[in-house]
Amino acid sequence: MKPSPAGGPRGFAAGAPSERRAGREASSLATGEELRSLMRHFPSGVTVVTCGPPQEAEGMTASAVFSVSLDPPLMLVSVQREARLNAKVRAQGHYAVNFLAEDQEGLSRLFSSPERSSGPEAAHTLGGGPGETGAPLASGGLGSVECTLEAVYPGGDHDLFLGRVVAVHPGDERKSPLVYHEGTYPRLVHDPRPAESAGAFVDSARGFDVRTRDFTRRRRKR
Ligand SMILES: Cc1cc2nc3c(=O)[nH]c(=O)nc-3n(C[C@H](O)[C@H](O)[C@H](O)COP(=O)(O)O)c2cc1C
Repeated sequence: MKPSPAGGPRGFAAGAPSERRAGREASSLATGEELRSLMRHFPSGVTVVTCGPPQEAEGMTASAVFSVSLDPPLMLVSVQREARLNAKVRAQGHYAVNFLAEDQEGLSRLFSSPERSSGPEAAHTLGGGPGETGAPLASGGLGSVECTLEAVYPGGDHDLFLGRVVAVHPGDERKSPLVYHEGTYPRLVHDPRPAESAGAFVDSARGFDVRTRDFTRRRRKR
């Protein structure tokens, strides 16, 4: 959406992009493009969110997924309003989140393609059979959780599906996760650096060292 001139109907403030970036105009609104271009630098894990039953299976690659609560166990997934999965989850009242492993880039690419299959073919490709809710599970990944739909919140061009976790299926814990960053799938490299070289560990004001859980400087007397 193009910002309208200052004083326009939505109250968008005018100003050079550099001024907006510096946050000098608190009332200006950022664009989706600005948000996208920053967020692409933020790495995320990758999942395929699915919904059953297997004869009508639907799956979609999603990284906007997180665990909201442990007591009770709740998950949240953000799904485009127009995505095939959206209507399916609303109708069936359940979904599964399949956490992909580093060797499952192909599944991520397939389930983010509008050309992908639905139904038994989709379930077959995922390979893990139906879960307790009927949602197809992926085999060979880090594991899956199944949820029943508790609430739907509108989120702009997406909907947020809050789900109660009803089943947890652990997967292959030896594998690393599939990661998405800057439009590619880089491999995670475990770097056994000594802790000293890994950045700041000491709170500069209080002198608290998180490695030793001690104060490096004498505490000021109160
Ligand atoms: C790594 C990755 C993560 C994605 N994350 C999400 C997401 O969290 N929510 C979403 O709605 N779409 C996400 N997408 C985009 C959808 O997978 C893609 O647009 C899909 O085609 C939408 O379904 P549709 O073809 O039924 O419209 C992601 C795509 C990729 C490659």
